[in-house]
Amino acid sequence: MTQSPSFAVISGAQVHEAVSGRERRVIAMVEDAYRLHGEGRTVNPDSYFLRFPDEPANRIIALPASVQGDVNVHGIKWISSFPGNVAGGVPRASAVLILNDTATGYPFACLESSIVSAARTAASASLAAARLADARGERPRRVGFFGVGLIARYIHTYLAANGFEFDELNVHDLSREHAEGFRDYLARTEGGRIEIRDSAEDLVRSSDLVVFATVAGEPHVTEPAWFGHHPLVLHVSLRDLAPEIILDAYNVVDDVEHCMKANTSPHLAEQKVGHRDFVAGTLYDVLTGATTPPADRTVVFSPFGLGVLDLAVARYVYDHVAESGDLHEVPGFFHEMKRYG
Ligand SMILES: NC(=O)c1ccc[n+]([C@@H]2O[C@H](COP(=O)([O-])OP(=O)(O)OC[C@H]3O[C@@H](n4cnc5c(N)ncnc54)[C@H](O)[C@@H]3O)[C@@H](O)[C@H]2O)c1
Repeated sequence: MTQSPSFAVISGAQVHEAVSGRERRVIAMVEDAYRLHGEGRTVNPDSYFLRFPDEPANRIIALPASVQGDVNVHGIKWISSFPGNVAGGVPRASAVLILNDTATGYPFACLESSIVSAARTAASASLAAARLADARGERPRRVGFFGVGLIARYIHTYLAANGFEFDELNVHDLSREHAEGFRDYLARTEGGRIEIRDSAEDLVRSSDLVVFATVAGEPHVTEPAWFGHHPLVLHVSLRDLAPEIILDAYNVVDDVEHCMKANTSPHLAEQKVGHRDFVAGTLYDVLTGATTPPADRTVVFSPFGLGVLDLAVARYVYDHVAESGDLHEVPGFFHEMKRYG
């Protein structure tokens, strides 16, 4: 008699245990996923945005994907963004991710995935920062965090794990309380000089690596002159920069088709000029040496966020929890398994 397929539920605590302290490993698996994507060994359709006409700030995004190679899994991440949660003491984003078996299609696990998502986003940003900085010949020693929630904290952790060391750490947020909270977090983990920068201009001008992780829905940084020192910009929140700044910069994205959607800053730039020649290439192109970022221009990395990265990290978490013997399977999850009863 064949066994019923199993189904496991993996908690955020288990995901946290699997990834924390293993940042370099997560960065390596994210790099492998980018390479598989670049080689055409993934399927990554458009993300689907569920929006609510009377609540424009909120959304839930579906990211279906499939990854070949060692990852060998299909699946979907379903992630909510309700920015108003933060005022009530609850994180903005919440998520689950379903892993599907490639042989049968059966879902075999559901993971808490806000941590998977934050980890893959930070790993991607840290990978891009390292490869772009190294290709430009120098690692920045002055970092600026523009918008300081969970994603900024994860990016800081993953930059440190990837060997970045900072003499100056600058912090800017619309909320003084958030800026102070992040400054205090940095003070517990960093030796460099930490400054809260009250103005956006001050933050950008005093940083050679600028990390955007706000929840801005449209561009609020509009002055190309602020970038005259040609920083490396991790534009993780995607909608902060005016088209003029994008058009002035050397742009790297994760996937061109994906990034030219949903009113991201590159999408707005494309609408303004009617072409996408301002995109120098993808992170995969940087990894393979097909494009080399210049030291004498501002370099902007805008990652739309690919479901294939979530699947790669989730697959690793599943395998880690299974090997540890801590998988919580739901007995009888699949029923009606006999064709004729
Ligand atoms: N590209 C990707 O793959 C990817 C993945 C995950 C998250 N993200 C994005 O990262 C961003 C941050 O996520 P989070 O969970 O840390 O959010 P969060 O709500 O916890 O923190 C965002 C912070 O930005 C601040 N802020 C908002 N608008 C600002 C502005 N105009 N100037 C300065 N500060 C501002 C808020 O006060 C808050 O402290 C979100 O936009 C999210 O969509 C991108």
